[in-house]
Amino acid sequence: MAHITLDIFRFDQGTDEVPHRDRVDIDVPETTTVLDALETAKAEVDGSITFRRSCRSAICGSCSMNINGVTGLACKTPCNTVLRSDGSIHIDPMPNFQPMKDLVVHMDPFWDKYTRLKPYLQPADRDEDHERERRVSPEDMKKLVEAANCVMCATCYALCPVVSVDPAFAGPAAIAYAYRFIEDVRDSKTKERLAQINDDYLWLCAHCYACSYCPKHVEPHDRIVDVKRRTVAERVHMDKPGPRHALVVNKTIRQTGMLAETEVIQGTVGRFNIRGLLKIAPLGMRMAAKGKMPPLFLRPIPKVDEVRTIYESLEVPVS
Ligand code: SF4
Ligand code: SF4
Ligand code: FES
Repeated sequence: MAHITLDIFRFDQGTDEVPHRDRVDIDVPETTTVLDALETAKAEVDGSITFRRSCRSAICGSCSMNINGVTGLACKTPCNTVLRSDGSIHIDPMPNFQPMKDLVVHMDPFWDKYTRLKPYLQPADRDEDHERERRVSPEDMKKLVEAANCVMCATCYALCPVVSVDPAFAGPAAIAYAYRFIEDVRDSKTKERLAQINDDYLWLCAHCYACSYCPKHVEPHDRIVDVKRRTVAERVHMDKPGPRHALVVNKTIRQTGMLAETEVIQGTVGRFNIRGLLKIAPLGMRMAAKGKMPPLFLRPIPKVDEVRTIYESLEVPVS
């Protein structure tokens, strides 16, 4: 048995103005998980400790929480992998959510973004038109399996720095789930789905990979790249800054081997978008005053052919 201390965030929105922390000492088997340790603390020390859980097997997605500052599933986290040097484990609710009671948070913003996707198949024809179920080839199904494994635990959403500064951003889970329907050959609403996820600020993703920790290996950061590529391929929202920015960055690096910042700014805002260009003019003037103005034109670097070879090998889509 191991003697450990759980240092738990405590808060009840019904009675508390500010949160406090409780330290709970327990004895648990060496191999116990953080969730089982919480269960022990609740059963043996303080029955009021509140947290969500159901399956204890990383299937239901209920028990995501912050464990020593890193968000993850408590039922998938063995205590002996996260114990601090003083034998304690600090447990907090998921960040990017409002706490409700102890480790339970208000999930509404997360579910709202999920609901906006219309997360169900919308085929062009009716079920009655098919003698049997709608068939999908193994190749087509392979593209969906990872994303369909999402258990909506919100771990990735809690880890996303863009959600924390701009709560309007759809977040990694919603975008990965949008991918699951966008790539489904049985679905007929690809363009509508792409437009919707673009409206939900798809292009705000900063590709920081903070969401790469996903207990179900959905790899939401990769699905975001896929959805952005599909947006460009389907010519959706091409009048908006997000796709325009991606294409002009792509173009200038391919042409010169470098980022031609002046062209990128013009291409993103829109060369004929006078209002948009006037809006960023003060920034340009401040940069010029500090001697930071990027050159208007760039010559290609000497080995630009090597850069182009990389593009070709990656089959990067062109504007
Ligand atoms: S993508 Fe992964 S981390 Fe995000 S909600 Fe789904 S299962 Fe959880
Ligand atoms: S890669 Fe994008 S979605 Fe994932 S955490 Fe970073 S900003 Fe958020
Ligand atoms: S209790 Fe179901 S995922 Fe942890």
